[in-house]
Amino acid sequence: MDHVVTIQDLADDEIASILDRARELLPVARGEERSDALVGKILATCFFEPSTRTRLSFETAMQRLGGNVIGFADSRTTSHLKGETLADAVRMVAGYADAIVLRHPQEGSARLAAEMSDVPVINGGDGAGQHPTQTLLDLFTIREELGKLEGLTVGLLGDLRYGRTVHSLAAALARYDTTMHFIAPESLAMPRRVTAGLPDGWSAHTTLNGVLPELDLLYVTRIQKERFPDPEDYVRVAGAYTISAETLRDAKPGLRVLHPLPRVGEIATDVDETDHAAYFRQAFNGVPVRMALLEMLLGGD
Ligand code: CP
Repeated sequence: MDHVVTIQDLADDEIASILDRARELLPVARGEERSDALVGKILATCFFEPSTRTRLSFETAMQRLGGNVIGFADSRTTSHLKGETLADAVRMVAGYADAIVLRHPQEGSARLAAEMSDVPVINGGDGAGQHPTQTLLDLFTIREELGKLEGLTVGLLGDLRYGRTVHSLAAALARYDTTMHFIAPESLAMPRRVTAGLPDGWSAHTTLNGVLPELDLLYVTRIQKERFPDPEDYVRVAGAYTISAETLRDAKPGLRVLHPLPRVGEIATDVDETDHAAYFRQAFNGVPVRMALLEMLLGGD
């Protein structure tokens, strides 16, 4: 494995190894044990778009493994502002670090960066493209919460058009004989480029009501205001879904609700106190999962 641009870059056995290793690394992720696996290694986090979880959990992961981090959270402090191209910037950073995590608003940017880089490039989210390390932590969370990945019935709800997390997650879940229900306003339906790669076993809906009682997992996403070319189109769908404790009354008792976060109202805070809420544990799981991936890419023990 060289670069992680899409979830398709990872074979089934590589995903399984990352999830298994992440479980072993939980005490290190929590700071209860030490690891020197990546001493002397440097990770560059290059974020051309805002992030809380992805950047900070990568940085925590690297530091918990004894490695160092360079990078930026605001590209306006870099020579990007002077007009430097992404291709040139990546060539430079590849000389300063042993791996690069890139977040960028342009779909395809991570693939371009991978072509320019001598060191592994990890896609930390490319526009409305993919977010493969989010998918790894989503899979880890599902396995931890529900005890398995195979044969689940999953609802993906919200902005399925622009939401990069659901693009990579749908592709990954297809490997585990998952029944998928895509719930979105018609204008934000799952793109054909994603559904074309899926086997039978998925269906599209505009409301949650009919499918909720069947679900083992409900994956809620934010409507991605920043991706809409026309702000009026955003206004038409903003607030289309709000999941509250009342909404979940007819759900299976074991249903787990995930969200890549941030949420901006699509999950009411009264869900936080229910057994369904797993999204804060999900966010923490970014640390052990990214540790396992960094170990695999950078040759730690
Ligand atoms: N889930 C996720 O990508 O969150 P951030 O945008 O805060 O990194």
